[in-house]
Amino acid sequence: MDRDLALNLVRVTEAAALKAAKHMGRGDKNAADQAAVDGMRRMFDTIHINGVVVIGEGEMDEAPMLYIGEKIGCRAKDDVKVDIAVDPLDGTSLIAKGRPNAISVVAIAPEGCLLHAPDMYMNKLAVSAKAKGVADINAPLEDNLRNVAKALNKDISDLTVTMLDRPRHEEMIDKIRRLGARIKLFGDGDVAAAIAAAFEYTGVDMLLGTGGAPEGVIAAVAMKCLGADFQGKLVPYTDEEKDRCRMMGIDDTNRVLYLDDLVKGNEAYFAATGVSDGELLKGVLYYEKGRAKTHSLVMRSETGTIRFIEAIHQLEKKPEYAI
Ligand code: FBP
Repeated sequence: MDRDLALNLVRVTEAAALKAAKHMGRGDKNAADQAAVDGMRRMFDTIHINGVVVIGEGEMDEAPMLYIGEKIGCRAKDDVKVDIAVDPLDGTSLIAKGRPNAISVVAIAPEGCLLHAPDMYMNKLAVSAKAKGVADINAPLEDNLRNVAKALNKDISDLTVTMLDRPRHEEMIDKIRRLGARIKLFGDGDVAAAIAAAFEYTGVDMLLGTGGAPEGVIAAVAMKCLGADFQGKLVPYTDEEKDRCRMMGIDDTNRVLYLDDLVKGNEAYFAATGVSDGELLKGVLYYEKGRAKTHSLVMRSETGTIRFIEAIHQLEKKPEYAI
């Protein structure tokens, strides 16, 4: 795939973030999400890809734009065929309440390379490149904490585990506390939280717990680009969800989905832009005279290049992002 695609993808997440950030603290998560979808969808039309949304805003009858199966991109004769995973606003409630850590995010891989994860829960484990190979989602928690701490050359008491603040995690939280590690709970947005585990500056060493499966695939693309590790296990609750797993060829829900199951090959691209300030990325900042600044992260798995991009946007010249 053309390497310039990476920079074009940033335009997509920037557009979504600029639109969504206008809704910060306004109490309407649907409006914020819709704004992000509009910005993202419009920018995709300018990109030279022949793409199909495999992870998106829902099924066709639930979402008018960026629905699963939607064909997007310029779709010219020679444009490369790609799978696209989008989360125009990961953390819709965060933005509605003006809370930190919301991002806009996109992942792309050649056709057939992204797991078409159904909308159900996934148990997740994410660690940095330094701790890759020492943690196993099926291993006892104490082994994982001990091994990750050792790989990072830290005491367990200095290890920071992050997870969604949900009642379903209470048992695990108790256990981690008893084992002596630190815990950072967050309200929403486990894509950014998983990726944070790969960067030392975030102060986060490990993501654990259960979140959305589609978000898991997107985070896996980022972790592959970073040479870090991500493991997931689908958690189907209903018979319908169990059937969907079987249809995907996953009969044994204890089966671990490793990076290569979630993202095949080594030609994936990832881009994210901060909407509200977070550990990973700063959010959209508004300046005088209709200028706005965005902070983005863009990566390619093939080369492993990690780019942090700060951009100043003249919204008067791009009125479509200003509202
Ligand atoms: P939305 O932005 O779609 O609201 O998702 C936020 C999120 O926190 C995800 O990052 C996470 O994977 C999922 O919701 C967790 O689901 P739940 O809120 O049901 O625990």
